Amino acid sequence: MSDPAPTAGVQVRLVRPEEHDAVGALTAEAYRADGLLEVDDAYEVELRDAERRAREAVLLVATAPRAGGHPAEEVVGTLTLAPYATSYAEIVEPGELELRMLAVAPGARGRGVGARLVTAALREAVARRARGVVLSTLAEMATARRLYDRLGFVAAPGRDWGHEGVRLQALTWTPPVAPGVLVEAATWPPTDTRDVDGWRVGLSGGFTRRANSALPLGTPADLGATLGRVEAVYAAAGQPAVLRVCSGAPEGLAAALADRGYAERAVTDVLVRDLAALPPAHVAVPPDVRVAVADAPDATWLTGWLGVKAAGGAVDPGTARAVVTGSPALYLTATDADGSTLGVLRAALADGWTGLSCLMVAPAARRRGLGRLLTRAGLRAAADRGATRAFLQVEVANAGAADLYAGEGFRPAERYAYWER
Ligand SMILES: CC(C)(COP(=O)(O)OP(=O)(O)OC[C@H]1O[C@@H](n2cnc3c(N)ncnc32)[C@H](O)[C@@H]1OP(=O)(O)O)[C@@H](O)C(=O)NCCC(=O)NCCS
Repeated sequence: MSDPAPTAGVQVRLVRPEEHDAVGALTAEAYRADGLLEVDDAYEVELRDAERRAREAVLLVATAPRAGGHPAEEVVGTLTLAPYATSYAEIVEPGELELRMLAVAPGARGRGVGARLVTAALREAVARRARGVVLSTLAEMATARRLYDRLGFVAAPGRDWGHEGVRLQALTWTPPVAPGVLVEAATWPPTDTRDVDGWRVGLSGGFTRRANSALPLGTPADLGATLGRVEAVYAAAGQPAVLRVCSGAPEGLAAALADRGYAERAVTDVLVRDLAALPPAHVAVPPDVRVAVADAPDATWLTGWLGVKAAGGAVDPGTARAVVTGSPALYLTATDADGSTLGVLRAALADGWTGLSCLMVAPAARRRGLGRLLTRAGLRAAADRGATRAFLQVEVANAGAADLYAGEGFRPAERYAYWER
């Protein structure tokens, strides 16, 4: 088993008010450590003013557990996402967000905290429906530049600029095209679908929100009346009403649901990568691990998946099988020399896309490269069947999986949430 990940326990989230002072101090300290601040530099006052950054822009922090078993977490990095027409905007254009003031505490460098922050910022930008992200960098910031290149930023020389004798290079990032709710639904179809005013109401015995939620396709004449009819369908089935709030949903849907007493659940990012250049097949994993690919899930695959998926409650295997076999898909199973199941993955095929889902690694086998192995094997198997692009859905709270997928070249394309009552 390898050492604990260097980023173990690092989380990125919006700043909390009680952290403003620490974030301001960290930003100034990080800039000073890099020789970017002179003695008595007026810019230091601005760097320290995290309270104003949080008010006028989106201020992210990376936190890590404190050493020595101290219960509280400490702020180890920060990044600002500045909207157009705010005082932090330098080259941002309408509809874009500008990355500014990336700072990692000197003692926390070289552990991937910066990559975590930038990756989280791209997800945040997509969640805010930004059409692009822009930043300025100095030619000599080679480490940062490698990170930006790896995450898909490209040079925009036409937007390079200067400031007090310093030449700054502009880099831009554009979200990839999302598969869209119809392709996503085609890879995980409900066992029963009802049409309510053009919306698709999914029912599958309550197994998975994805297959038991309504897709709000278009704006109905009377939103409240349509919601009432959706609720009646779920009430008749004895299930909670669940709606997916995503791009394409009517304006004001989330507010209407909040008014009706719904709660937001499972905020989820759709991540995308194309399959033109696949990652190398080789992954360092324990010897004797085998990955088998099948066109249907056998009992081992289903048990391997449900063993983790349904750890907290009873699931009817017949319903689970009906949901996962509702569309063409490949089923991957990783086993050890004794034939014990170590992990599973499903790669559904629809419209040139593969939708990866059901990635589960047995708890005792984690952090040995199996998640990476299965992901790469799934991408290859799907490409062999003609898929040219891949997507997957990952809950925002699932930081470990997000790291795995970012490392495998997946980029955020959309964010959605389920609202449930
Ligand atoms: C997510 C999951 C599949 C990862 O499987 P795994 O075999 O442990 O992953 P790997 O060993 O291949 O890890 C590959 C990389 O992913 C990242 N990663 C994986 N788990 C992580 C964790 N818990 N915390 C931080 N990073 C993590 C790391 O970057 C890791 O590389 P490294 O070990 O060289 O640092 C596993 O934790 C799991 O089954 N979780 C429950 C189900 C789940 O969340 N599935 C994904 C749904 S979208």
